Amino acid sequence: MCGIIGIVSQGYVSSKEIIKALKRLEYRGYDSVGYALNDGTIEKDTGQIAVFLEKMEDKKFKTGIAHTRWATHGGVSKENAHPHPDCSGNLIIVHNGIIKNYLDIKDTLLKKGHVFKSETDSEIIAHYFEEKLKNKDMKQAIVDFMKETKGTFAVLMIKKGENEIYAFKRDSPLALGIGSKEFYLSSDIYGFSDKTSKAIFFDDDEFAIIGEEYKFYDKEGNPIEKEVKEFEWGFFEEEKEAYEHYMIKEIKEEGKTVRRIINSLNNEQHKKILELNEMITNAKKVCFIASGTSYFASLLGVYFLNRVNVESQAIIASEFKHFIKIDENTLIVAISQSGETMDVLKALKFAKKKKAKIASIVNVPYSSVQRISDLSLEILAGQEICVAATKTFINQISLLLYLANLNGLNVNLDTLHERIQETIENNEKKVEALAQTLYKKRDIYVLGRGFTYPIAREIALKLKEIPYIHAEGMMGGELKHGTLALIEEGTPVISLIAYSDDEMISNTKEVEARGARVVTISNDEKIDPDFYLRTSKDEKFAITATIIGQLLAYYIAREKELPIDKPRNLAKSVTVE
Ligand code: F6R
Repeated sequence: MCGIIGIVSQGYVSSKEIIKALKRLEYRGYDSVGYALNDGTIEKDTGQIAVFLEKMEDKKFKTGIAHTRWATHGGVSKENAHPHPDCSGNLIIVHNGIIKNYLDIKDTLLKKGHVFKSETDSEIIAHYFEEKLKNKDMKQAIVDFMKETKGTFAVLMIKKGENEIYAFKRDSPLALGIGSKEFYLSSDIYGFSDKTSKAIFFDDDEFAIIGEEYKFYDKEGNPIEKEVKEFEWGFFEEEKEAYEHYMIKEIKEEGKTVRRIINSLNNEQHKKILELNEMITNAKKVCFIASGTSYFASLLGVYFLNRVNVESQAIIASEFKHFIKIDENTLIVAISQSGETMDVLKALKFAKKKKAKIASIVNVPYSSVQRISDLSLEILAGQEICVAATKTFINQISLLLYLANLNGLNVNLDTLHERIQETIENNEKKVEALAQTLYKKRDIYVLGRGFTYPIAREIALKLKEIPYIHAEGMMGGELKHGTLALIEEGTPVISLIAYSDDEMISNTKEVEARGARVVTISNDEKIDPDFYLRTSKDEKFAITATIIGQLLAYYIAREKELPIDKPRNLAKSVTVE
């Protein structure tokens, strides 16, 4: 994960500006923060970017790099924080990714007398170049680096006294933002979204030298031309406004964002969703791939399409290649909020090699997943800052429902936003009260069947990542095959009961009979559920029931005074395997 930023400016800029830009990438990792300038300054520390920004000295600079870390190799410490210098302090780097053969390279460098200060894989990069530059020029040294290293990287490197940044990447994302007097390098477009709407995206094994102008090269060092893309920044809603946390703000935006995606599918993206539908019709095999929350959206997609006799399957991206045979008649539909999830990208690259067609559903425009796809739709949820996916999940499902509607499902999506608003307004206080009775519990079980099964999984995931409760989302029918042994007096069980789902009612009775403390969520008024969510359509209930789960995770975490928007050990964009 990690976020990297670089600025090359024709005029002087305040060092606080580079950290402010970095703050926009904080969702990529928040273990430590640091920056370096081309006068040799390096400042870094563990902890929050906001605290660092407050304490830091204001220096003027023209060329600088910065880094926010999600620790992989080496613990969370000041020494392991980026940037890392070489022995002389002449070369300084920031790195996102993992250099897999770093121990071999480090060994060679140690024998040559290099001294390392951190436990990271990244530090070897600065020393590698220090050694190479003894008898090669920078371009050749970068070409060698690309040949000799295994693993993933987006690296920014500066040299003391020079107004240039050397940038190179493989698998980890990197973009160059083009301002009027400045160039910005960033892990993604958010890093410079407030400064420019023009960018160039690095492809794998490309590098660039950015100074007064920019020049791109392929992995052999041959100059290449790159296309400048223009952006629309219409949907960036990153201010927290009056809310205590981004998570609750983003949940409360769900009505608005659903309206936006449905509107777009009716208008600007209409042709694209028809194209996706045609790709599905023409394919012999359709497989969704995704990770985490997006995987649960995929499972719902399979369910919705199955309702209208369109066959598909969903496979977790990290396990994809072990569970499917693919060829040129296969359509892979990747679902990814960030569009940068490494597991998804690896699966797509594998599928591409096998000549499968690739479609994707992403939130972040121009993300790597979008760029690798033959066709890509955007869910238009706006930037999601809280690490936990909420509004993006709801928009993913809404898009999948639209797709199923094109094949004969009959769900009125024009009123969906009203059901969402109503769910939040009628239930928020009740959920808060429930959270006060559940926050000390260690385990919670969430049961679903059919379309409520993926929702049960999603609610359980939210309960794990935000309030740190061990939660299991499972199929009601599977309970009796083992897990029932864990139910005892007072064990909390959330039961998702769709209209007339008698089997789910039986499963709920089974746990109740064993003393479980059951919370029922249903769109069936006659069973008198704890949370009655008015809608005649089960597919809409899938969405509103999820929202109850999102609110519950939020309010339990708030009761426990946890860092809701930045839960421990996690990051929003999972760019490691
Ligand atoms: C959970 C969550 C993660 C992501 C997963 C995939 O709240 O956010 O489980 O869903 O890491 O991320 P994307 O959708 O960006 O591929």
